[in-house]
Amino acid sequence: MEKLSSNWAAIILAAGKGTRMRSEKPKVLHTLLGEPMLAFVLSALEPLFADNIFIVAGHKADMVRKAFPEGKFVIQSEQLGTGHALLSALPELKTRAVQYALVVNGDVPMLAADTVEKFIADSAGADVAFATITLEDSGAYGRVIRDNGEVRAIVEAKDFDPAIHGEDRGEVNAGLYLLRLETAAPLLELLKNDNKSGEYYITDLVGLAKSHNLNVKGICLGADPTLLGINSPLELSRMEESLREKIANELLMKGVILHAPHLVRASPFSSIEPGAEITGPCEISGKSVIHTGAVISSHCLIHNSEISQNALARSFSHLDNAFVGPNAQVGPYTRLRPGAALESDAHAGNFVELKNAALGRGAKANHLTYLGDAHIGAGANIGAGTITCNYDGKNKFKTNIGEKAFIGSNSALVAPVDIGDGALVGAGSVITKDVPPHEMAIARGRQVNMPKKIA
Ligand code: UD1
Ligand code: CA
Repeated sequence: MEKLSSNWAAIILAAGKGTRMRSEKPKVLHTLLGEPMLAFVLSALEPLFADNIFIVAGHKADMVRKAFPEGKFVIQSEQLGTGHALLSALPELKTRAVQYALVVNGDVPMLAADTVEKFIADSAGADVAFATITLEDSGAYGRVIRDNGEVRAIVEAKDFDPAIHGEDRGEVNAGLYLLRLETAAPLLELLKNDNKSGEYYITDLVGLAKSHNLNVKGICLGADPTLLGINSPLELSRMEESLREKIANELLMKGVILHAPHLVRASPFSSIEPGAEITGPCEISGKSVIHTGAVISSHCLIHNSEISQNALARSFSHLDNAFVGPNAQVGPYTRLRPGAALESDAHAGNFVELKNAALGRGAKANHLTYLGDAHIGAGANIGAGTITCNYDGKNKFKTNIGEKAFIGSNSALVAPVDIGDGALVGAGSVITKDVPPHEMAIARGRQVNMPKKIA
């Protein structure tokens, strides 16, 4: 797909509250398979517009900005309607000498880059173009009114009256527009809010452009479900389920083994290679990568993590921004927090938590352990109940454990501390000083045996 020149910009209308979602969260931050709606719209536009994409935010704009720190924003300070939202973006477009603006509603997450590309091609020569879809029930969508095939106007559902506008023919506005700014932008100033909602509608631009003898095209994309907007929790959950099923089917078709495909929730931004196997319900979100031969058992949550070839994640493991090397094993019930990394053949077992910690090649921490801000050398063995005490209430400190070191069960390693290669720590120790390589450290009260008192 070829990128458009810098004369082109895309504008995403995302300032609305989404009243029908009945939620305080801005609508575009509601998620499908763990990804906010807005991320989907951005990913459909990026192949064509690169970073020439502007997001119009308004309701809780700071939250939206925070969720998309790299996004370019313009602010619509009051939500006076979709036409007003676009108007708010005009100064920015003028500064950048943009000539053509593609405008899209932020609540159309299934929008595909191919659709946008086709729409742009079909819009050639128009001053104002918009995409339409056909629906059995026009619902709350804007109705497209034509005279002998020629577009006359878009009439919003609330304002539609068959006696005035003619019968509803089931062709509706999809919320995807193209404007040639030289001719169309001045009309935005002329929009009125004399309608049932009291809002400035972008859709009125169509009738206005017609009355100014501009070239207006309504491009019908048929019964395309990818252009449906999301306005309510029910619509969101239906869209999410259909996306989930589509992704699971695509994974099966390309050779990923899913034993419960109906319960696998994989993000479209994750990648799962053929030959990987998922044995039950699982969530794979963010930009995760699961390599061939890896096995993910049921009830794992894997976010932004990489699982290498032939690695095994046993049930109920929870991975977030973590790396599991080739042939490594985690779980059941392992928690890998950001910055956790297992090199090849390493093992992290049940109730083991790692955060910003690396387990070297073949190293093992099999039971009930917390390793935070730590590096564990190759072949080391971390006994059950070992804790790296990495935090003094203010600062974090690092623990280094050398290659082939052996940490006895129930040891507390008070950081900063280094345990040398091949060193041994006796069970139950509280280690506060470095242990030189190949030495043994025991730091605990001595056992005393004495006769029992007679009761
Ligand atoms: C809109 C269209 C309708 C179309 C439908 C397609 C209008 C007036 N109507 O209706 O013709 O069939 O989309 O899905 O445009 N927004 C702002 N600022 C505002 C108001 C809204 O940025 O002041 C944003 C919203 O965040 C949303 C988008 O514009 O992402 C569309 O708004 P929404 O209220 O969902 O419009 P619809 O009623 O669905
Ligand atoms: Ca909508």
